[in-house]
Amino acid sequence: MSEIKYAIRYFSREGSTKKLADAIAEELGIIAYDVNEPLVDPVDVLFLGGAVYRNDLDFEFRSFIETLDSELVGEAIVFSISSGNKMPYDVVKTILDEKGIKLNEKTYFCKGKKLFMNAGHPDIDDLKAVKIFARSIAREKEDK
Ligand SMILES: Cc1cc2nc3c(=O)[nH]c(=O)nc-3n(C[C@H](O)[C@H](O)[C@H](O)COP(=O)(O)O)c2cc1C
Repeated sequence: MSEIKYAIRYFSREGSTKKLADAIAEELGIIAYDVNEPLVDPVDVLFLGGAVYRNDLDFEFRSFIETLDSELVGEAIVFSISSGNKMPYDVVKTILDEKGIKLNEKTYFCKGKKLFMNAGHPDIDDLKAVKIFARSIAREKEDK
């Protein structure tokens, strides 16, 4: 059986998405890189993490997704955090659909801080939950 290849790319202004990315990385035994690191080798599963800023994806995160090569990505998975808006999945899906890259319908979302809202998130439970999510994706892939 061939080994499943994973990669993680994220954009994080204030470190919350990075915490989720690093938790996924720890679970999968890989390193999470930010979107300044281009994806050059083919992967079976690409985890894409980004937050919501002013009701949109950050420009850098969006630009990275727009540069993805469908030949290099078996499928993508979105993880995101924001003070309440779960929009990243739908926006990423629209971009990836146009590029012919499959987006897994499973996604991870947790609430993030904004001013005084949701202070302390992502917390230890959020990080445990994102690890469980990553493990369930990996199990699904390895069982195929
Ligand atoms: C300037 C700014 C604008 C934001 N706008 C939104 C927003 O429109 N909707 C929302 O749900 N969250 C919004 N947030 C909350 C962020 O999505 C949240 O803080 C997230 O955890 C940031 O992730 P990061 O630490 O990885 O950058 C905003 C945060 C900042 C700093």
